[in-house]
Order: sequence, then structure tokens, then C-alpha cells
Amino acid sequence: MTMQSPNLTQSFKAAIMVALGLTASTLVGAGGCADRAGHALCVDTEVDYATCGDLPDPGPEGPDPNDLDVRFVEVCFDGSEGCDPCAAEAITGAAVERLNGQCEVVDIQHVTLTCGPDPDPTVEDCCYKVRLEGDFSCGVEGRPLLAGAELTPRVAALQTGDAWLAGTDRFEGLRRPQDPNTVEVLRTYWLRRASYEHASVAAFARVSLQLLSLGAPAGLLRATQEAMADEVRHARLSFGLAASYGGAPPSEAGPLRIDGGVTTGMELQTALREAIFDGALGEGAATIEALEAARSCDDPVVRDVFLRIAQDEQRHALLAYQTVKWALVAHPRRAREVVRDCLREGHLRATPPAAELGAAEDDALRRHGLVASNRRAWIRHESWSGVVAPILATMLASGLRY
Ligand SMILES: [Fe+2]
Ligand SMILES: [Fe+2]
Repeated sequence: MTMQSPNLTQSFKAAIMVALGLTASTLVGAGGCADRAGHALCVDTEVDYATCGDLPDPGPEGPDPNDLDVRFVEVCFDGSEGCDPCAAEAITGAAVERLNGQCEVVDIQHVTLTCGPDPDPTVEDCCYKVRLEGDFSCGVEGRPLLAGAELTPRVAALQTGDAWLAGTDRFEGLRRPQDPNTVEVLRTYWLRRASYEHASVAAFARVSLQLLSLGAPAGLLRATQEAMADEVRHARLSFGLAASYGGAPPSEAGPLRIDGGVTTGMELQTALREAIFDGALGEGAATIEALEAARSCDDPVVRDVFLRIAQDEQRHALLAYQTVKWALVAHPRRAREVVRDCLREGHLRATPPAAELGAAEDDALRRHGLVASNRRAWIRHESWSGVVAPILATMLASGLRY
């Protein structure tokens, strides 16, 4: 039986809080959309609206590769002069553009406004949540490699080769499915995962330079170097599993474009924003996703890989929080301002799930450790509202005790 994510989320939050020296009694709330009922709906009535309510758990459904993918994004416009009552077209365009920056978009078939405009009086924006349905591929969680103003994470092109394979004896006893379609889905998943893990190595190289340029202490640097080695291991495990499923010659990573990756974004604001959104949120969600995959997976070989990844990703998320903690002491005014900004816009980065999500349950894939995309969206949302936002709010409330 699959353990539900709320428990995993709460355990993860508790572990991070203990490691940061925070206690449950110091935790303060951080409102999200679910806390702000009563949205004034003023956009085109042709679209299907629903107000933000309680966020349902879509269940541990397995992904069906033939189903359309679903993703939620939030877009905001200047609301200083009120919300435009006929802004549906602009909202749709902005939502597709935003998704394009996060995923490889092949085709968008349906766009639905699900919530908005957000009435939060502290934000002079008109914000809308949009559900996009179509054919697109969004990367796995973890530290993405971003450069300059690029929104799309960089990954290396794959090529035939075995230079990035972990030792094949590691995968002896792998339960390889009989069905060739299932094998192909699993091989593709692990190759895609391998690409992102490989890019995370470069992402931590970038973090190292950010920390050095900001005068961060040795402990943060050492932890970052260790995280880089972890990501090399994750990439090799992922390439190795993909090869072990077979169906095609082994793949390895080709050259990775790093231009602009170390010459921009070295200042405190970018370093902190990346620590919060890519580290605390991205790697925190990656931890919970890997734990959930391990729980639902009945192949001991794959389960072992997910548990190893989860253990490492939790340390990486903790490193991000420790970076924020250091910045709040070393650069209190500027760091507090950045953390506050992140808290205000965090719900934009952690898209909520929809009540009606219902990809066909595919036990075969779930038993091999795949987590459905709607489930992943839910985990990311929970990771922000249930873990990152309250912990950051608590860190701010703790003031100079850090
Ligand atoms: Fe990783
Ligand atoms: Fe990581």
C-alpha cells in the first residue's frame, strides 16, 4: 500500500526543522490561495471557472503515456488600475508562454482558467491560475541548470555510449517487464531523469561560485561540493537503470552548454531565489517524490535507487535552507527582502492540482516507481504550502536569533 504524501511531507518538514534548530512551536503560518476564499471573478464568462478551495489529493495514480499531460501555471498582470474584465486572451497567451519556459511544449489542446483574479490586497497584481492540457514534457524535480534570463533548464543532448553508466552489477535482479511498451516508457523515464541529474552537477558548480563570490562559510561550500558528487552518482544510477531495462543501446550525456551559467546571477538576490525555488522547493519536492516512488515500487533494485536519491535530495534541500539562514545573518536587510518577495510569489512556482484530474491508474508503471504527473504537481504544491512557506516564514519571524 502506498503511503500518502501528507505524511511524507510532514516527516520531511520535521526533519528539516530539527536540522535548522526550529521547533514546531515556533512555526508560523504562511497563507496560500486556499487561505483566501471569495475570489471576485471578473474575466470572460465563456471559460470554466472555479474558486480556489481545499486542495484535493488526486491519489497515487500511475501515469498513462497515452494520456494528455496536465500542468497548472499562474500568471499575473499589473493590477494597479484594477483587473481587466475581458483579459481571457491575454491570460491564455501568458500562461502558454510561461509553460513554454518550464517544459518542452509540443501541443496545447485545452486551456481553462481555474481561479482568479487573486484578491490579495498586499499584491497589486491580477493573478490567475490556468490549467493547460496537451502534449508536453516537464522535467523531473531537482536543481535545474539555468543561465541568465533563460527559463528553460538546460540539459545535455544524449548520445550512444556507456561513459555514464553505474556498474551493471548494481542492477542485477532488476524486474524487466515483458511488455515492450512498458520497457520503453521506463527506459525513457530514466534517460530523461539522467539528463536532469547530469545538469544538476553543473547547477551545483554554479552554486559553488555564487557562494564563493558572496563570501559564504566553508561548511556551505563543502556541502555544495558533496551535493555535486551526489548528482554525478544520481546521473550514473539513472543512465545505468535506463540501460538495464534495455530495448536500445546504452546512452550517455554529450556536451552540456554552460555559456552564461557562471557569468550571470552571482549576486545575493539570484543566489537566494535559486536556493529557495530550486533548492528548498525543487529538491524538497524531489525528496518526497522519490520517497513516494520507493513506497509504491515493488522492485527492490529500483526502490534502492529511489531511497538513495531521496536521502541525498533531502540533504540538498537542507543545504538550501542553511544558505538562506546564513544570508539572513550575514546580509539581514537584503536577505529578508528577498525571502519576503519569494514568499509573496511562491504560489506562482508551486502550481496547485485540479479536483478533476484523473489519469488512468496504471499499476504496472507505479510498481516500477513512476509517479503520475498530476501527483507530482500535487507534491510540488504541498512542498511549497506545507513545508517551504511555513519554514521561511518562521525563519523571518525568528529575527536576529539566527
Ligand atoms: Fe539528484
Ligand atoms: Fe539534488
